[in-house]
Order: sequence, then C-alpha cells, then structure tokens
Amino acid sequence: MSIICVIGTGYVGLVTGTCLADMGNQVTCVDIVQEKIERLKQGILPIYEPGLEEMVERNVQAGRLHFTTSYAEGLDSSEFVFIAVNTPTGNTQGGADMRYVEAAARSIAEELDHYAVIINKSTVPVGSGDFVSRVIQNNLKRADVSFSVVSNPEFLREGSAVLDFQKPDRVVLGSSDPEAAHRVAKLYLPLRAPFVITDLYTAEMIKYASNAFLATKISFINEIAQICERLGADVKEVAAGMGYDKRIGSAFLDAGIGYGGSCFPKDVRALAHMADEAGLHPQMLHAVMEINYDQRRLIVDKLTNILGTLRHCTVGVLGLAFKANTDDMREAPAVDIIRWITAQGAQVQVYDPVAKETGREALAREGVNMELVTFCENAYDVANNADALVIITEWNEFKSLNMQRIRGAMRRPVLIDGRNIYEPSEMNRCGFIYRGIGRGTGPAPTVLPPGDTTSILEQQVPLTLEEA
Ligand code: UDX
Ligand code: UDX
Repeated sequence: MSIICVIGTGYVGLVTGTCLADMGNQVTCVDIVQEKIERLKQGILPIYEPGLEEMVERNVQAGRLHFTTSYAEGLDSSEFVFIAVNTPTGNTQGGADMRYVEAAARSIAEELDHYAVIINKSTVPVGSGDFVSRVIQNNLKRADVSFSVVSNPEFLREGSAVLDFQKPDRVVLGSSDPEAAHRVAKLYLPLRAPFVITDLYTAEMIKYASNAFLATKISFINEIAQICERLGADVKEVAAGMGYDKRIGSAFLDAGIGYGGSCFPKDVRALAHMADEAGLHPQMLHAVMEINYDQRRLIVDKLTNILGTLRHCTVGVLGLAFKANTDDMREAPAVDIIRWITAQGAQVQVYDPVAKETGREALAREGVNMELVTFCENAYDVANNADALVIITEWNEFKSLNMQRIRGAMRRPVLIDGRNIYEPSEMNRCGFIYRGIGRGTGPAPTVLPPGDTTSILEQQVPLTLEEA
C-alpha cells in the first residue's frame, strides 16, 4: 500500500486516482475548484465516464479515496504526487499551455516537507520534466527536502478510461533518477503490463509520437476514403482488408468526420510546434491536421450538394460529443459543423444521450446562434420534419434506430452518416438519399428539390471507374 496524492480531478486525474485507490492504495485527490471537490465528496462526478461513479463510491466507502482543495492535506505523508492538470493549446502556433502544471508544481513546492516522487501524467512538451524540477526546486519552502521527477504519460481513452488504466498495453516511465522510476513501476506491478523505462525526454516524446501516429492513421484512412468515394470503392471494406495485415492493424482505421477531443488535436499541434521551434519542417503532421479539418467541411459540402441551399432547411444532428461514451465537447467536430450549418441559415435539431449540458455550453461559447438550435429528447424528435439528418457521434443507440420511422418523420429523406454506421444499400432500400464517408457513392452533385425524390433515388448507383 502506498500513500498517493493526485493533483487535478479531470478526465485523467480522477480515473488515475480512483484506479490507484482500487488497487489498495491510500489516495487523496486535490483540485483547486472548490465546487468540484464538494460535489465529489457527495459522490457527484464532474465528468461522465462509464464505470467510474460506482468505483469512486466503493473506494470512498472503503476509506481509500479522499477529496480536498488543500495541497497540505493532499501531500501529507504522500510518497507519490501525480500531476494531472490540463495542458490545453496555449498559443496561436499550437504550443501547450504550461500555466496549470507550473501552478501545481509551485503549490507542491510550498507544502512539501518530505521526500516524494513527483509524477507528470499531464501531456507536456519534451523537456517539461526538467521545467517541473526547476519550478519545485526554486519554490521549495524547506531547503532540506528532496524530490525526484518521473514522466508517466497517460494513454487513457475517454469512454474506456477505467479499462485502459487497468489493462494498459504498456506503462511508460521516464526519469533522470532510475531509482525513482523503479519505485513508480512497483505501483503498477499488479497490472502486469510491460514497462518501458527511459530518460525523461524520451518518455515525454513517446506520448506525443503515439498520439500523432494514431491521428495520422485516422487522417490517412480519411484521405483514402475520399479516393474511395471518387473511384467507387468502399472504405470500410478497404480498412477491414488492410487491418488483417498485422503490420497495419485494424484499430484507428475508421473513416469519418475526423478526430476531436482533448488530446489528438492539441497534441499533434503541440508536436508540430515543437518541431517548428526546433527549425524542422514537420510536413506530415501539418497534412494530418489539414486533412482532419477538411473532414468536417465535407459534411457541410455533402449537405449542400444534395439540398442546394441550406437556407430555411431544418437539419437534424445526432450526437454532439467528440466520440461515444463521453460528455466531452473539447474540439468536438459537432461544434464547427453546427456553426457552419446555422451560418447558412438552417435550423438545427439536435440530440445527444449524454453531452446535453456540455454540448449546449460548447455551442454557445463557440459562437453558434443558439436561436437556431433546438435540443430534442430523442433521435426520432430530431428527425421530425427535417430536410436532412447528420450522424456525428457513433453512440450505440444510433446504430439500432427504426430507420423506417425516421424516414417517415422527415420532410426530405437525406441521411449524411459521418460515422459510417449504416450500410448504404440498406439505407437506399429504406428510401434514403444516403451519403457516408468513402462509401463509393460517387461525386455527382445531386440537388434534391423539396417534394418528389424518386428520380434522385434511382441515381443511387456507385460510379464506375470509367465514369469517375
Ligand atoms: C489530461 C492531461 O492532464 C492532459 O495533459 C492530457 O493531454 C489530457 O488529459 P484532463 O484530465 O482531460 O487533462 O483535464 P481536465 O478534465 O480539464 O482536468 C484538469 C483538472 O485539473 C480540473 O479538474 C481542474 O480544475 C484541475 N486543476 C487545473 C487544478 O486542480 N489546478 C490547476 O492549477 C489547474
Ligand atoms: C486519446 C488516446 O487514444 C489516448 O491514448 C490518450 O492519449 C488520450 O487521447 P481519446 O481522445 O479519449 O483518447 O479518444 P480516441 O478513442 O483515441 O479517439 C480520438 C478521436 O479520434 C475521436 O474523435 C474519435 O472519434 C476519432 N477516431 C478514432 C476516428 O475518427 N477514427 C478511428 O478509427 C478512431
């Protein structure tokens, strides 16, 4: 059993602290937001993460998990101090904002009265371990106190973060003090995962390179999707066919509206920024970002190709969160897409099973005209009198809708499937003008008049190579 302090009770800190407590450790989670801590003490979580609420409750009841706003209380006797505060994009060039990490390091220094291992969980630019060391060293209240810094990047996917913590593919630890890295490794021993123990810089780089690689896979398949669409191939089958090759792997080859969330966008930007700053020209990272942005535009292009103008149209939107099983709206493609649709004069009807409040806040904050947005109670209400339906998030409940009922409720049967969750042939049979991403339905712009759609439905034949 170890005594652990976790700074930051967001998506990463709360999962990390709770899972460490579940392994039998004594954990105190510290956050500067009083309201968050008060609510956590009542068992109310600031985030939606499957399985977490029950785990928090269990560990609080067992007396292993505590919440406080006091660094002194959190650090009291702690052998390990995890820094898990946010590191958003901080400048226009894409660099990470280190203000919160710096604030956490200062506060640790002011209260630390015994040796502890400080662990960077936040994703921080290469070299930040040294930065944290300097900040702590320069602000230590007690000169006789020593500490070590270890980088231990997180690889937790929102929506499956608890499972990712409990069954990691690997645990990465970097430090200039190998003894400290080994102490942290002992914490993770029960997870029986492979350890990668490196110097600080390398561990920090492993995190960026991993996220950049996954983002690259997504942009790669999105580019292939565009080519598939033009040439009449089906990107889902292409990805499946590629994925059987062990050198390629099937994960992260789902074409769609592009990646969002709190990590990929900011981490690819930050890595490109670090490379730029180092005098390099990271062409591939820039291409990955550009392709990703274009995927969002593609949804609006598909809508206007079919509907002509969006003025006076009603567009139904299924899903707001950046992916399923989370309420997180950070860099969610839904925000740009809804902003562009409403800017063209369309009304939007939207439903997300979980990201209601976070979604409403994000849309308002990002300048969407909220008078044009109606929040609905379910997917069928979204379809009601809509001229088109757009699937943004791949929630399970959107995969098993009664599509006849949806079709019957709509004014015009246009379905833009940003996540490729439906089969084009089935949707065509159902009477939809269906457009997925890279499903070989051909490029010909089809302007759909209000009223009779029979002639258009007859055109739902993939282009042949010659036609393309
Ligand atoms: C984490 C990582 O730390 C980030 O670097 C990584 O790339 C993504 O995941 P995340 O957990 O998503 O960030 O951040 P967030 O959900 O915003 O939580 C951060 C928490 O830290 C908040 O609860 C915030 O109140 C708290 N905080 C922030 C502090 O306690 N002190 C601060 O000085 C700043
Ligand atoms: C990511 C990392 O996977 C995780 O290791 C950690 O570093 C935090 O960041 P997360 O952002 O929670 O996790 O979700 P992830 O499942 O990786 O998806 C990121 C984005 O990529 C989502 O917008 C998702 O919809 C998109 N995506 C993912 C695709 O478009 N296609 C895919 O095949 C996979």
